[in-house]
Amino acid sequence: MSQPKTIYLKEYEAPAYHILSTELTFEIFEEHTLVINRMAIKRRGDVPVPLLLDGDDLELLCVKVDDVKIPTDAYERNEETLTLFDPGAEATVQVVTKIYPDKNTALEGLYRSGGIYCTQCEPHGFRRITYFIDRPDNMSVFTVKVIAEQSVCPVLLSNGNLEEEGSFPDGRHYALWKDPFPKPSYLFALVAGDLGRISDNFTTAEGNEVALHIYVDKGNEPRADHAMRSLKASMRWDEETYGRSYDLSVYNIVAVDSFNMGAMENKGLNIFNSHYVLADEETATDADFLGIESVIAHEYFHNWTGNRITCRDWFQLTLKEGLTVFRDQSFSADMQSEVVQRIRDVDMLRERQFPEDAGPTAHPIKPEQYIEINNFYTATVYEKGSEVIRMLHTILGEKAWRAAMDLYFETFDGQAVRTEDFLWAMQQHSPIDLAQFALWYSQERTPSLCAEHSYDPASGRLTLKLEQIVPDAVDGRKQQPYCMPLRLALLGHAGEELPLQLEGDTGAQPLLERGILLITRDEESFTFGGLASEPALSLNRHFGAPVVMEYPQEDVMNLMRFDSDGFVRYEAAQSFARSTLEAMMRGEAVSPQFLESFKHILEDESLDLQFKAQLLSLPTVTMLMQTQQTVDVHAILEASDALRREIAVACEATMRHLYALLHRPAHMGLEAESIGARALKNRLLGYLMAQQDAESIDSAMAQYEESHTMTDRLAALQLLHHGAPEAAEAPMRDFYERYSGDMLVMTKYFSVIASSPQPDTLSRVRAAMEDEVFNIKVPNLVRSLIGSFARNPYHFHAYDGSGYAFVAEQIIALDAINPMIAAGLSGAFKTYNRLNAHSRAQMRDALEKVQAHRGISKNVYEIVGKILA
Ligand code: PHE
Ligand code: ZN
Repeated sequence: MSQPKTIYLKEYEAPAYHILSTELTFEIFEEHTLVINRMAIKRRGDVPVPLLLDGDDLELLCVKVDDVKIPTDAYERNEETLTLFDPGAEATVQVVTKIYPDKNTALEGLYRSGGIYCTQCEPHGFRRITYFIDRPDNMSVFTVKVIAEQSVCPVLLSNGNLEEEGSFPDGRHYALWKDPFPKPSYLFALVAGDLGRISDNFTTAEGNEVALHIYVDKGNEPRADHAMRSLKASMRWDEETYGRSYDLSVYNIVAVDSFNMGAMENKGLNIFNSHYVLADEETATDADFLGIESVIAHEYFHNWTGNRITCRDWFQLTLKEGLTVFRDQSFSADMQSEVVQRIRDVDMLRERQFPEDAGPTAHPIKPEQYIEINNFYTATVYEKGSEVIRMLHTILGEKAWRAAMDLYFETFDGQAVRTEDFLWAMQQHSPIDLAQFALWYSQERTPSLCAEHSYDPASGRLTLKLEQIVPDAVDGRKQQPYCMPLRLALLGHAGEELPLQLEGDTGAQPLLERGILLITRDEESFTFGGLASEPALSLNRHFGAPVVMEYPQEDVMNLMRFDSDGFVRYEAAQSFARSTLEAMMRGEAVSPQFLESFKHILEDESLDLQFKAQLLSLPTVTMLMQTQQTVDVHAILEASDALRREIAVACEATMRHLYALLHRPAHMGLEAESIGARALKNRLLGYLMAQQDAESIDSAMAQYEESHTMTDRLAALQLLHHGAPEAAEAPMRDFYERYSGDMLVMTKYFSVIASSPQPDTLSRVRAAMEDEVFNIKVPNLVRSLIGSFARNPYHFHAYDGSGYAFVAEQIIALDAINPMIAAGLSGAFKTYNRLNAHSRAQMRDALEKVQAHRGISKNVYEIVGKILA
């Protein structure tokens, strides 16, 4: 590989030509596919300039301009481009390329998943199909003709509306699709194969009929019902919440087994990882059902935030992704419980984005440079991007937010724009100047907010001091304080919210009426008066600002019990558990107050069951690692296991009683009540199993055998395999026999194996890789087995370095097959800088082997380079 090039935002230039319309013909044959691409091009300026077309791994058969073959000295070709020296101000350029979908294991461009031909074009896949100006500011109207053997590919799909279909005498047939909306090439899609489908329809608010189809492997049709329900709910929600309707007469979704990501929002033809489409109670967990609802919604919402209004360039990725994640999170909150959803979203942010932001690959939600754009589909661009949008929503308030969104849609519909354009629309309806707020787009790393307060009983005043700590950027650059909304409340003895009487000049606090302080400086102090006695402070309610909040511990027990903001209750419980674990790591005994508070929640019958299950969870290893200077994984694991046991001992009787109450067949179905019952029951079983006693093992065995849902079956299997491996042998065998024909379920089986603390885990993972069900070319299987192992703190960080060596070895193997998946796995090493010298040396060894491997992709090169820098 030649030295990979860095691409900079500041070097952006508009393309010299636009491709006004694109006519594609795909001739699909068993061994290869021919792509005939006719582009109507138009030069932007008056002077003749070359036309640069992107291409990657293409066999070029022919180039014509205005239907005449051009001489070979009229163009030039290299690894990445086809340059036509002077095609003229307006012309029709035709290129014919030959591609090999069956050999395409990178899963970008046109490839074959199972027997199905499908495409993935975002961000740079289209150039692996044909030569094109493959960038989002080149929007073109696409007409697509697909021709294939009728018996192999009865279904032929592309974007937009079906215009025509027919068959030829030789057994081949064709379909002609036209998408009336100009779009960037990354939203192009094609599917051909033998698929079953379920259909439904939707009438838009304007009265237009939309045909809805979900295509799946034959036999799987009944497992697509939940996806269809979710699609219709999303369509209704976007109309009711944002006044946005669907704009074509057909909406197609296709589920494929091999897919690099979750799903893709191609115009009118979404392509999905089958994991986010297929579900029934027998084979999918509650989490799977919720995942489907949110990803179906996410891709649907992209139709307005992403497709109708798209990104000018890939540095703007968060323009569509942050905003669309915020929209899908709001949707899920409306469908389920708001607080439960908020806790899930924040957990995910802190589990995945905070470590990224604290590590060597940290970047702003709007990066300024990249080597490989595929490395920037990150938790930062997506999840932190969503938190930034959420803050804007908080600052504007519901009504102004809707007005600003309406303005954004009206102003930029049909265009490829920048995050600045979005912020312009927000500014028109914002109560504050957003100039400082915009730093959230250009700065990286998570800021901390430290709060201290003092109460003066004589005057009835509470003074709150806040200090904002803004870390330097990865490269050492100083960064500025942020503007952020901090939602707070002062709580009286029974948890009631007291009026916020801010003293002094309150002019700079336009949001105070809504219980929000606007923080803009690194140090601020606020005094609240009119208090009859010392209140409890409820800070960063709803987790409205995505910061590390360090707040006074003395209120934690009260907040856990009675805060009217469910998120703060959860936060207080987590914080108490964390300080308890930290004390245990220092050799102290478990605090009796903690156990008492835990019991208090356990016995509270008024709590929603899912929320209760969340309140009773302990901070994860990844969360605990974030507060350690030098990470000591084994100390964390030891303390966590010990605390789990102590809790089980202290609460055993109540837990068993409650477990028995919840473990009833009546609790089936997907209503919040049943989901909650399962979540809580399995949380309790988790604690009980920490004792590894016969009674708990019996309960888990019985649950495995009696379960009517995958949620219960899998939870029992995992607890058994991880805690009582001998007892688990029979259920493990049973599970394998039941489901070895179902790849999606087998991903769960592989994760159970790979995430186990048991000493033989690595050898079991190696053995599983040899199993006939495993296939290294299928990303879901790789993620479930190798990816889960790389997240397994017991074994990835094994003292002898075997975990690091194994993962490095797999990165090298995978890189030759699928660089995106290999790069994703490399992220496991992000903790490098924070480990002790022993682990660091072993990690370095492993990573240097990857780096030294000949022909590594720029995907892996960029990630590993940053970690070792
Ligand atoms: N744009 C897709 C989404 O967020 C994600 C994706 C990116 C899928 C790149 C495939 C490749 O919905
Ligand atoms: Zn998206």
